Parts: sequence; C-alpha cells; structure tokens
Amino acid sequence: MRFIGNKENLVEKIYQILQSKGILGNSFFDFFAGTSNVGQFFKKKGYQVFSSDLLYFSFILQKSYIENNEVPNFEKLLSKIEIKTHSLFASSLMQVIDYLNTIPLKEGFIFQNYTPEGTKNLDIPRMYFSNENGRIIDTIRQQIEEWKTENLLTENEYYILLACLIETAPFYANISGVYAAFQKIWDARAVKKLTLRPIETIINNKENKAFNQNSVNLISEIQTDILYLDPPYNQRQYAPNYHLLETIAKHDNPIIKGVSGMRNYENQKSQFCNAETGLKELWNIAKNADYKYLVLSYNSEGIMPQMKIEETLSLFGDLDLVEFDYLDFKSNSNGESKTKKFIKEQLYILKKNEK
Ligand SMILES: C[S@@+](CC[C@H](N)C(=O)[O-])C[C@H]1O[C@@H](n2cnc3c(N)ncnc32)[C@H](O)[C@@H]1O
Repeated sequence: MRFIGNKENLVEKIYQILQSKGILGNSFFDFFAGTSNVGQFFKKKGYQVFSSDLLYFSFILQKSYIENNEVPNFEKLLSKIEIKTHSLFASSLMQVIDYLNTIPLKEGFIFQNYTPEGTKNLDIPRMYFSNENGRIIDTIRQQIEEWKTENLLTENEYYILLACLIETAPFYANISGVYAAFQKIWDARAVKKLTLRPIETIINNKENKAFNQNSVNLISEIQTDILYLDPPYNQRQYAPNYHLLETIAKHDNPIIKGVSGMRNYENQKSQFCNAETGLKELWNIAKNADYKYLVLSYNSEGIMPQMKIEETLSLFGDLDLVEFDYLDFKSNSNGESKTKKFIKEQLYILKKNEK
C-alpha cells in the first residue's frame, strides 16, 4: 500500500543492520504500525509481535496480518452462500472474494459522498472514486458487516475480508498519494472496475497482538525485547491524509466537511507531528517502556533535531546511530511528475541500561 513512511522496502536493510549489531530477541513491538509491514516482516522471522496504531484501518491490517495465525476456512459462511462451480477448487478466501466480486450493487456512504454522481449537487463534485467503484466499495463493505451481524464470520474472517477491501481500494482511488485531495482529471487506474483482491495469511504460531490506540498508553502493559519506533517525521498528521480509508474501515457514516469530505480526527492527532511534544514523548517512552533495545527510524529531514534525539535517548543507555542513503520519490501536487531525491535514513539504536 502507498503510505507515507511505509518501510516495506527498507525493513530488510533495517533487519540486516540490527543483526550485524547483535540486536536479537524473541519479541518485537511495532509501536507505529501503519501498514503493519514491519510487524509482518518480524512475524515471518519468528518474533512474537505486538503492534499498534491510532488509525483504525491500520488496526484492521494488523489484526489480519499480525494477530491472525490461521488460514480462514469461512466454514459457516460457505455453508450458507451459493458458490459458482468454477470456483470450487479455489481457497475458501478466494471463493468468498469471487462471491463478493459478483453480488448486485448497492449505494451507500462512499457513493453518496465521494463519487461525482453521488455529489453532483456540490459546487465541486468529489472525484475520489468512479461512480461504479463507489457502489462496489459500498456493496462489499455492507455485505461484510451483514455477515458479521448474522454471525456467519469468525473474528479473524471478518478482519481478513475488511483487510482485503482496505488493500484493494487504494488501487482505484483518484488521488496523487494521499486522500487530502482528489485529482480533477481521472487517473487511468481509477476508471478501471474495482476487483477485490485477497491478502496473504502469515502464520508463526506466536501470541501476536494488535491494538488500536495511542501506543504510549501501552508502555506499562507490554514487555518486549525490541521496541521499534517509526513515528511521523513532519507536521503532517496521518488521519486527515488517509480519512477515506478510515471511513471505509469504520463504516460509521461520519459527519464530513470541506471540499475533500474530511471526517473529524481530533482524537487521532500525534504528538510526534511537533518537535517539542515529540521529544517529550520520546523521553517518556525511552524512560518508562519495558524493552531491551529501542530502535528509532527517522531521517535527516525530520522535525526533531538529531542532537536533541541523541541527548534524549543517551540518558537511558548506550546509543548508536546508523545512517544510510535512501531514494525518496516525491510527486508534485497533481501527481504528474516525479522527482528523485536522496535523504539520509537514520536508525537510532539504544541498548537500555540494566536497572
Ligand atoms: C511513519 S508511519 C509508520 C509506517 C510503518 N512503519 C509502515 O511501514 O507502514 C507513522 C504511523 O504512526 C501512527 N501514529 C502516530 N502517533 C501515534 C501514536 N501516538 N500512537 C499510535 N500510532 C501513532 C500514524 O497513524 C502512522 O500510521
């Protein structure tokens, strides 16, 4: 998934660095989980993974990739719905996905508020999704909720189906990267018909756990060998930039405002989007969390100055800083052209003093 700060392409490198420094353990806390890609990587390496994020759509991904440890069989559901013969040899998840891809379309909140036809009475009709894809998203989201209400899904199956929708929808969104604005001309991707895609199941038979809250509130509850911090590194809050994924995930018909139809995100603001409050939180986490190693991913353009981060972390143990070049692709405001730019990716590694 395209997500600001997504570490999918960096996590292998981060892992190699940790290995070379002897930073090993059995448990890993992905404190700012986002897409959950870092947690997924460490889950595959056999770690018990804890993960958390303020965003609910991130929680859905975490529940499905991190906490879930079984291939879903959709036993109850598949005994109730009629599956076409051609899909009988497909996995249970694929059978359900095929079914969801063919049910009659309904209109709901996404069609009514984020497609041109649904918003034709606005001064600037919204063009986040095509009319058809808006209907498809509504139909699939409503169907998953109905199955849940009818008790046809286990908890894991419910989150897995939602994760499929959360992973699929961005491929068809008419945006240049984030949901703070839609494009005024249709992107070729956005006019294709949305087809729901399956997600991978990761099994490591550890008691992995997902949370949807301010991770700072978890520091007294979770004991971990590696505490991995990948906070926002500039003033841009995540919740407004991903508001539409949050609304698809929550399915709560929120009050929305403005040209982009933004939901309220008062309770999802991060202290790390401000240098002063971010440093205070970092001090609090480094001091009070229960960990052997704290690993902070940051970069040379972040709002917390390097000197202040070093001052803060070195209060609690031996600190090491590893830097490497990272190629950042930046798209301009309408997403048309891209510039390449090297920034320094930083890994602060703190070995906590024994008490
Ligand atoms: C840089 S992104 C993490 C990217 C992630 N490592 C990945 O690979 O996708 C930062 C994440 O921190 C989350 N966040 C910010 N402050 C938080 C807090 N206090 N508690 C939990 N999550 C927070 C944001 O919602 C965002 O998803």
